[in-house]
Amino acid sequence: MTEKFYITTPIYYVNDYPHIGHAYTTVASDVMARFHRMKGHEVFFLTGTDEHGQKIEKTAKQTSEKPMELADRVVQRFKSLWEKLNISHDHFIRTTDREHIFGALHFFQTCFENGDIYLGDYEGWYAVNDEEFLTETQVQELGDSIHNNPNIVRLKEKTYFFKLSKFQDQLLEHIHKNKDFIQPNSRRNEVIKFIEGGLKDLSISRTSFEWGIPLPQDPKHVMYVWFDALSNYLTAIGYGKDDAKFNKWWPANVHLVGKDILRFHAIFWPAFLMSAKLPLPKTVFAHGWWTVEGEKMSKSKGNFVDPFEFVEKYGTDPFRYFLLKEFPFGQDGNFSRDQFRLRLNNDLANELGNLVSRTISMVTKYCGGKIPNVPTSPSVLISDSLEHSKKYDEQLVTMTFDKALDEVSQMLRKTNQSIDQSKPWEMAKDETKKSALEQNLYEWCEVIRMVSVLLYPFMPSLTGEIRKKLGLPLIEEILSQNAMQQEIKFGVLVAGTVVSAGTPLFARIEA
Ligand code: MSP
Repeated sequence: MTEKFYITTPIYYVNDYPHIGHAYTTVASDVMARFHRMKGHEVFFLTGTDEHGQKIEKTAKQTSEKPMELADRVVQRFKSLWEKLNISHDHFIRTTDREHIFGALHFFQTCFENGDIYLGDYEGWYAVNDEEFLTETQVQELGDSIHNNPNIVRLKEKTYFFKLSKFQDQLLEHIHKNKDFIQPNSRRNEVIKFIEGGLKDLSISRTSFEWGIPLPQDPKHVMYVWFDALSNYLTAIGYGKDDAKFNKWWPANVHLVGKDILRFHAIFWPAFLMSAKLPLPKTVFAHGWWTVEGEKMSKSKGNFVDPFEFVEKYGTDPFRYFLLKEFPFGQDGNFSRDQFRLRLNNDLANELGNLVSRTISMVTKYCGGKIPNVPTSPSVLISDSLEHSKKYDEQLVTMTFDKALDEVSQMLRKTNQSIDQSKPWEMAKDETKKSALEQNLYEWCEVIRMVSVLLYPFMPSLTGEIRKKLGLPLIEEILSQNAMQQEIKFGVLVAGTVVSAGTPLFARIEA
């Protein structure tokens, strides 16, 4: 039976335009989706937008728009960024979609009927930007500054509560039993500590503003935006409507989120699911945050990295590559323009681009532009490359993007070294070395071919260019054949295939 892989990004708030942080989560998810498709798995990749709540209502007032107008406008910006970044999602959900609203209400009603929602009074502090009720610890940390923070409001309202406290032990048990449930490990420990500190029931409806899903049993209340938003992971796959589809995809394999929203995904969300008697997602992975030139990204500092700008200037694939190569997924990292330039010049222009162009030009010059015969006993370069490919696979399964890319870099480095050491330009002058030269050229082309597969999830267009040069079909054309299995082996290139130099893959970026 075909393996299934359901992966989600967070759904993004529509109060502001997308920046590098949003691009990061989405590109990482796209890499995983493409990787799994390449392994022959059936993939459902979900992204979308989170459009209700006080924050959106507040922003719409500031821009003199209706919340729906604001949402429609900003959604276009997200959609066009995903198109520019070559994101291959299978569905884009908006929480204002009718199907979503239906499913979210069904989810709420299920928890209600299971006895886990009750009416009460809430009094406390609320951070509108994060759409979050502040805990006592958060309030203590903020101290007096809480009174001068325009983003934090004091609430006193009737509300429906979710019995979060009831699930405390069950949650801890699940986390302890399922080591992969929260990743990376450091985040898992944070969550355990938070739960052990004691869970309080959670307010899941609001009455002091209107932009949300009204509760049918009490329409003064709109659903708390996080209850609404989290349920998108169910409603997008037919929850309450299309059981066959829902049962096919749920539970999700991975929810990919930033560290700031881990608590919502690793505590609230599983508790809601437990209440609705649904299985929990297999993994919630929290990645770190990007700072810019060493500082936190913020509008007031004017240091927002605009992904559109980078894509337009340097192309989609180099930007995608940089995002995932720069620092380990799970840790925080810094965005610097110098580093971007160095990384691209070194890894892409020098190591990869140069290797491809010199190899193809040697095949043109020494073999009449045709792939030479398949050697009978491949050299250590090939066995090494297969070993690196295996490690790449192991690294990518666990979302260790930078290490997976390191394996590819090693293949490239070894191949470049093999060219430098064997000096093909000298071999070509000696007729007795002709067959050795052809063996070398065949092997170098083979490594490039394998690299075009391994880099495909990261750089879907540029690897396509490489494959065209080698006269190979695009990865998309061979997905149904389990590209990883078919292509990560020796001897796939057919002797006599015509290669073409075409245009260079990368231009160096000048300082
Ligand atoms: N709407 C909620 C998610 C609901 S999911 C059911 C939300 N939206 S968001 O637009 O504010 O943030 C979306 C994602 O972007 C989060 O995973 C967040 O961690 C990520 N990032 C926002 N800024 C970031 C950086 N500077 N660096 C990396 N990721 C960051 O939260």
